[in-house]
Amino acid sequence: MTSETLIAPSVLSADFANLESEIKAMDAAGADWFHLDVMDGHFVPNISYGAPVIKAMRPHTQKIFDVHLMIAPCDPYIQDFAEAGCDIITIHSEAGPHPHRSLQLIKSLGKKAGIVLNPATPVSALEHVMDLADLVLIMTVNPGFGGQSFIDLCDKIAAVRRMIDQSGRDIHLEVDGGITAETSKLVRAAGANVLVAGTASFKGGPDAYASNIKALRGEG
Ligand code: DX5
Ligand code: ZN
Repeated sequence: MTSETLIAPSVLSADFANLESEIKAMDAAGADWFHLDVMDGHFVPNISYGAPVIKAMRPHTQKIFDVHLMIAPCDPYIQDFAEAGCDIITIHSEAGPHPHRSLQLIKSLGKKAGIVLNPATPVSALEHVMDLADLVLIMTVNPGFGGQSFIDLCDKIAAVRRMIDQSGRDIHLEVDGGITAETSKLVRAAGANVLVAGTASFKGGPDAYASNIKALRGEG
């Protein structure tokens, strides 16, 4: 089982006018993955960026591209994100009636598949899709915006950790929303091993990125 904590800065908080230098600086600062928040103004009340922007970022780092699709429907676009160079493609359980089909599609394209639950969605939504999941993402804000306050769902995170351990499969448990050096301690203690952080990763500009990541790992 994975025990090391991985930090996945959310590019949503980067300077969009300078994505190449932002990606390179965050890579050099020790980011493990890049978390890419795709929003459609329909599933969530905000629009961010899509596959062409991710494709443009792809040559600037070798690190894992972890795309979080906040779009409905998602199936018609999954191939675009695979071809843009995403390594892990995560879809919302609430984005449509067929999350199992979406996960099958992601796997058929040779990519790692993730399933994400909004704060209001119970862990039972995972029960019949765990066999297909390489990653479970628990939202600790209502998705759509960076910079929101952490919702304490540590009991939920711990319940998913138990489900993953019982499955016997090496499934990442990722948490997204309001993660800071302080809330990072809570979610790590509850069993999360991948922490998404937008505001807390990019605050202070490039000179601060390495210390921001260390603080999120609990090494600060
Ligand atoms: C919210 C996104 C998050 C967001 C996190 O809908 O899924 O990934 O960028 O931002 P912070 O870390 O600022 O809460
Ligand atoms: Zn996200």
